[in-house]
Amino acid sequence: MYENFPRSKWFRHDRFGMFIHWGLYSIPARGEWGRGTECYEDAEYYKYFEEFNPTEYDPAAWAKLAKAAGMKYAVLTAKHHDGFCLFDSAFTNFKSTTTTCGRDLVREFLDAFRAEGLKVGLYYSLIDWNHPAYPAYQHHSHPHRNNPAYIERRPFDEYLDYMHGQVKELCTNYGKLDIMWFDYSYGEMRGEKWRATELIKMVRSYQPDMLTDNRLEVSGEGFGSLIEETPSFYSGDFTSPECIIPPEGIVNVKGEPVPWEACITLNDHWGYHSGDTNYKDEKVVVRKLIECVSKGGNMLLNVGPDAKGRIPARSREILEGVGRWMADNGECVYGCGISEFPKPEWGRYTQNGKDIYALVMDQPVGPLALLGIPGERIESCRFVSDGSEMKLYNDWRTSNYGGIAYVNVPRYELYDDIYTCIKITLKD
Ligand code: GLC
Repeated sequence: MYENFPRSKWFRHDRFGMFIHWGLYSIPARGEWGRGTECYEDAEYYKYFEEFNPTEYDPAAWAKLAKAAGMKYAVLTAKHHDGFCLFDSAFTNFKSTTTTCGRDLVREFLDAFRAEGLKVGLYYSLIDWNHPAYPAYQHHSHPHRNNPAYIERRPFDEYLDYMHGQVKELCTNYGKLDIMWFDYSYGEMRGEKWRATELIKMVRSYQPDMLTDNRLEVSGEGFGSLIEETPSFYSGDFTSPECIIPPEGIVNVKGEPVPWEACITLNDHWGYHSGDTNYKDEKVVVRKLIECVSKGGNMLLNVGPDAKGRIPARSREILEGVGRWMADNGECVYGCGISEFPKPEWGRYTQNGKDIYALVMDQPVGPLALLGIPGERIESCRFVSDGSEMKLYNDWRTSNYGGIAYVNVPRYELYDDIYTCIKITLKD
């Protein structure tokens, strides 16, 4: 499996990453689309540029938080749809290094996360509401979509030269990158409309091992040619379902699993939103991470730092809680994927070679039925959290239900309220 995705081996092992949406939109604090959806006049939006000075930006603390949460990689928005660059681009002054803070926020992020041993990626928006040659036409949320003065068209190649130039800056000025997360294609704006073959040829010449997502062809809607018989040159290395977990994972037209990563907000917004307190707690986050892994996918979980550069306290609390569970049970995630056995009624299975991980959510009455796993194939069973032995178990209660392996769960206090994890090692 995954022969056509040789770059993705580490990605399919690491499984769990941090997405970071940060920029000028953290000041209005209503999410990252405000400039467009609220049809800001340029001068109005530029006031945030004049003000932006995240004095508490501490990427080392962000990196430590991600690492403690069990995250193995992180992706930061280098430029979002509003066009503001968190890196020192030679192509524009609409960038963090010319704001009051004067800092190359991308460079500091990359340095800090690499120092903690995490792999690093950058999100780059194909859409750009700031560039004068980015057409206001058709983009449903361009801030000037209703302004006749912007309907006149400048050659789109002026923007594409800018976009390709910035992607080249990111690929050549910031060391080895592990992921370039493009976002997103829509309507006729996809594929060669972005000059995608030229773009990916350039990217590959500088960053041959870097993963790219599938959004030079699609958005969160659609998979792109990555699942087709003959994927395009720019189909990417993984599909990117957004704010949903594919009910049955994602396979190509031949039924073979393909790498995928569900990008998921921690509350209901990507960018910081001061009024959004609808957070998923650590129980939900862990269970959704296990769901992704059990279906052969990754989870890229988002945080939206505020205008001062702080990850919101509630986000930090949740990630710390996830980290406590991952510290005991991370081996159910890393290196794991789809199990050869069907999903049991009481939880989920993940699998890594001969090791099956039973993630038990519903505490059994009596011994636990390891549905689908023939008892004669089982070498041993251990609690993941403390390594203690669990024995296969049969008595008068199970005698009526032959052909099913049971384990006796001796100490119910080991059931935590997220999952209880059992490692079932199969015989060779
Ligand atoms: C969608 C949103 C964008 C966000 C991205 C993350 O494209 O419009 O704001 O950055 O999803 O996947």
